[in-house]
Amino acid sequence: MCGIFGVVAKEGNVAEKLLTIGKRLAYRGYDSAGLALYNDGNIDLRKGVGTIESVTENLKLKEMVGKIGLGQLRWSTFGRPSKINAQPHFDCDGDMVGAHNGNIVSFHRTKEQLENEGHTIRSLNDGEICVHATEKHYDKTKDMIKGLMEGVKEMEGAFAFICFHKDHPDTLYAIKMGSSLVLGIGEGENYIASDLPSILPLTNKFVPLNDGEIIEVTATSYKIYNAEDGSEIHRKPRITDLSAEEAVKGSYDYFLTKEIHEQVDATEKLAFGLESDVLDEIVNKLSEANVAFLVGCGSSFNACNVGSYYLNNLAGIIAFPVIGGRFFEEYKNYQPDDKTVLLCVSQSGETKDIINTINFAKPKGYHILGMVNVPGSTVERLSEAYAYIGAGIERSVPATKTYTNQVLLFLILAARIGYKRGRITKEEYEQLKAEIHNLSALVKQTIEESIPKAKKLAKELVKTNAMSLLGYGITHGVAMEGALKIREINYISAEAMYSSEFKHGPLSIVENGYPVIYVVAPNDKYYVISHVSEVECRDGRPIVVGEHIDGLDKHVKEGDYFEIPKSSQLISPILAAIPLQLLALYMSIERGIDPDYPRNLSKTLTVD
Ligand code: F6R
Repeated sequence: MCGIFGVVAKEGNVAEKLLTIGKRLAYRGYDSAGLALYNDGNIDLRKGVGTIESVTENLKLKEMVGKIGLGQLRWSTFGRPSKINAQPHFDCDGDMVGAHNGNIVSFHRTKEQLENEGHTIRSLNDGEICVHATEKHYDKTKDMIKGLMEGVKEMEGAFAFICFHKDHPDTLYAIKMGSSLVLGIGEGENYIASDLPSILPLTNKFVPLNDGEIIEVTATSYKIYNAEDGSEIHRKPRITDLSAEEAVKGSYDYFLTKEIHEQVDATEKLAFGLESDVLDEIVNKLSEANVAFLVGCGSSFNACNVGSYYLNNLAGIIAFPVIGGRFFEEYKNYQPDDKTVLLCVSQSGETKDIINTINFAKPKGYHILGMVNVPGSTVERLSEAYAYIGAGIERSVPATKTYTNQVLLFLILAARIGYKRGRITKEEYEQLKAEIHNLSALVKQTIEESIPKAKKLAKELVKTNAMSLLGYGITHGVAMEGALKIREINYISAEAMYSSEFKHGPLSIVENGYPVIYVVAPNDKYYVISHVSEVECRDGRPIVVGEHIDGLDKHVKEGDYFEIPKSSQLISPILAAIPLQLLALYMSIERGIDPDYPRNLSKTLTVD
C-alpha cells in the first residue's frame, strides 16, 4: 500500500532524510515515487514511475534542496501507474503540495464536484482530490487546519494525507482518517510517516495518532487537533525500543531468511511474558471472558486457529477464530454480553479488515483486546488492553517470526489464565513454563536440522504446481500457515484442510507423486497414520512434518519426514511451522522468485 512521509528541519537539507524514510516504506509495495521540497519561495516537485532508487537516480532527487519536504510511494488503485498519476500533487496554482495513503471511495463524485467548482485536476489519482478539497477551504479561510477540517468533509474513504503550503513554509500538516500515520520527534527536526519502523534511523521518539486528528508540525513543535471541532489535543511523545538495525538484511540473502532465523531470539524474549507483569492487564481481562472471538487476517488468522486450541483446552475459554473481513457479516445479529471479548490479532495493528471489525464491535459492547507487534498502532489504541508479540520489525512480506510469536503469546496467555482459573495444577503450569523457556533452543535446532531437507525437497518440487497440506486438531492452523507461505511466494496452488476432511472429496486429486504434507502433533498418531495411508496406497507422495512417531516413518519415503525435536502436544505445533517456512523459502528461490517481495502483495493492507 502507499506510504507517505515528511520532514521539517531547522537546519540543513531534508532530501536525504526523506529518501531514508521512503526506502524503509518500500516494503509495503509501490509502483511510483515522488518528493516535493520547498526552497526560497518555490516548491520543487519531482515524481515518476519505478523504484525509489530509479526515480532518485533519474530525477536527481538527492540534489533537491529545502528544509521542509514530503514524499509518497504509490501503489496504484485509482489511475494506472504514470508520472501524472504519481504523487505528490499540486493544488490549482501550485501553492500547496500534498500526497495521501489509502482510498478516496468518493473519488469520481468529488472530482466532478471540484471540477464544476473550477478546480483544475490533472490526474486520475484520488490523492489529488485531497489536495484540491483542502485548497478549496484554505482559500476561503487562509487557515490550514480549517482547510483540512472542511476538506475531509468533501470526501469519503479511509486515508491519511500530508501537505504543506507556500504561505506557511516552515510547517507540515497531516490528517489521519483511517490509514496509519505517526509523528516522529527529532532534535531540531520532526518527521511524519505511514509507519513507525520507517523513522527509526532518525528517532525512537514518537507520538501515536488517532483517526480524526490533524497535526501541525514545525521543526521544533507539534500540535494535534480534533478534526471534528478543531479543539487542541495534548499528547506526549513515547519512546520505542524497536531498533532500526532489525530492519536491515545484514549478511542474509533475504529478509525472509533473516526473520526465520530471528525466531530463536524472538521466542526467547517473549517467553519472559510468563513472569512479566506487562501481561497482567490482558490476562485479567481475558480471564473474565466466557466467549472470545479471535479475529485476524492471513497469517494472524492462522495463529488464531492454533490460539483457539490453547484457550479452549488450557484456559477453559470458549474461543472462536474468525477471519477479520467475515466477523461483522457473520455476527451482525449477535448481541454480546458483558463477558464477550474480541481479541484482535494483527502484526501491523493497521489492517483495515481488523479496524473495520473493531469499529463494528466496539459500539455493540464487545471488550476489545489487542495483540500487535507495532507499538502505537491503531489496534493498540482501540483496545482496552493489549499485548505486544515482541517479534521485532518484520520487513519481508510473508509473516514468519510474527506468526510464531503470536502463537507463543496465545500459549503464554492460555497457560497463565488456565492456572489462574484453576484449570491446570501448579505442577502442570511449572512444567509448561519450563517447556516455554526451552522453546527457543528447540527453534534453533529445528531451523538447523530442517534447512538441508527443505533445500533438497524444494529442488524436487520445482515443477510441482499443486499440493495439499493437512493438519489435525492443533496442527490444522499450522497446515494453513504452511500452505499460505507456499502459495504466497511460489505462485502455486497449496490447499490446506483438516486431515479428516481430505477423504470427503479432495482425495480424488491424488495421483502418482502428488505431494500431501501432513503436519502432525505427537498425540495424533492414530488418526494421522490412517490419513497418510490413504494417500500412500494411491501412489501419492506423503510428506510429514512433526516429531518422530514410531510406525509413521514406514509410510513415508526417506527424506520426506521433517523430524522436529521431541517436545509436547502444545509446543510441537510451534516448531512444525518452521520447516514449512523454510520449504516455502527455498522453493521460491528455486523458482527465481524474490520471497521478500511477492508480486501483487503488500505488507500492510490498509484498504478494504
Ligand atoms: C502472510 C501475511 C499476511 C498477513 C495479513 C495480516 O504471510 O503476512 O497474510 O498476515 O495481511 O496482517 P496483520 O497481521 O498486519 O494484520
